[in-house]
Amino acid sequence: KLPIIIDCDPGCDDTIALLLAFASDKLDIKGVTVSAGNVHINNTTENARKLVGAFRPEIKVAKGCEKPLFKTIVTAPEVHGETGLGCVVLPEKGKVIESINAVEFIAQTLRENEEKITIVITGPMTNIAVFLMMYPELKSKIEKFVIMGGSSIGGNVTPSAEFNIYVDAEAADIVFKSGVEIILCPLDVTMKAFVTEKELQEIGEIGGLAAEVAHGAIKNALDFYKEFYQKTEVPMHDPCTIAYLLNPNIFKGQHVFLGTELKGEFTYGETIIDYRDKLGKEKNALVLNEINREEFIKLIKNSVEILK
Ligand code: BDR
Ligand code: CA
Repeated sequence: KLPIIIDCDPGCDDTIALLLAFASDKLDIKGVTVSAGNVHINNTTENARKLVGAFRPEIKVAKGCEKPLFKTIVTAPEVHGETGLGCVVLPEKGKVIESINAVEFIAQTLRENEEKITIVITGPMTNIAVFLMMYPELKSKIEKFVIMGGSSIGGNVTPSAEFNIYVDAEAADIVFKSGVEIILCPLDVTMKAFVTEKELQEIGEIGGLAAEVAHGAIKNALDFYKEFYQKTEVPMHDPCTIAYLLNPNIFKGQHVFLGTELKGEFTYGETIIDYRDKLGKEKNALVLNEINREEFIKLIKNSVEILK
């Protein structure tokens, strides 16, 4: 089993990522650490706590940093609802949150495990950046980072910046420069990982709590897409990370130099994905840009079925 930690800000699509991970017997989830992003840290933590409590109560949950390194927090309640999980109502029984924070939890988990651990990141990267600054000696215990973030095809917060990077670009910069192997799922690939209205309905029809949660979470994001972009399909960004770990063959990508814009009048938080090697810089990431969408949808449906 592949040992992983999931650092997330649930979040509608984070929820689908978690469900994929919960359903898999290929992953050994050492913990879910929570970041601030889609909504305030108290809400994202509450959502993670309840999701884990409902499906995999043995997994530990640790609360992370409340604010980005330098900036004021930017949230996205219009996409994810005020609580971060839209209309989804989760059972009250949840988990007790770890007494140590996410940064300490990651350090402790890496220290305690002989094997290296893969860290999946589906929110702003504040926790991970603080971890890297506090415990540089533990960097060698990280197998790789699998990250949802960034874009070379325009942004979803500003014309050039994707949400997870924009919320804490300084943190992203630290992670990208860490020297740890990086697999990046930017909008380049996640916009192709969409769920249609019909597929959403089919997911709901599977029945059971997981189907209800998945349906509610996706519907919330879809309603936003309908209203603001007149679309009848919605991208599922975060689950691409877990889908990659479970089935890398359904993706295509390229090894490139990956950087973040920290200055600029209009471009704060833009990711530089140097597909054409124009900068001639050392390649520090595998950036995914193609997905077999049918297999991706199958994976979502199977996972919901397994958790039924
Ligand atoms: C990312 O931003 C968040 O709103 C989603 O959960 C995803 O992690 C997409 O830009
Ligand atoms: Ca997210």
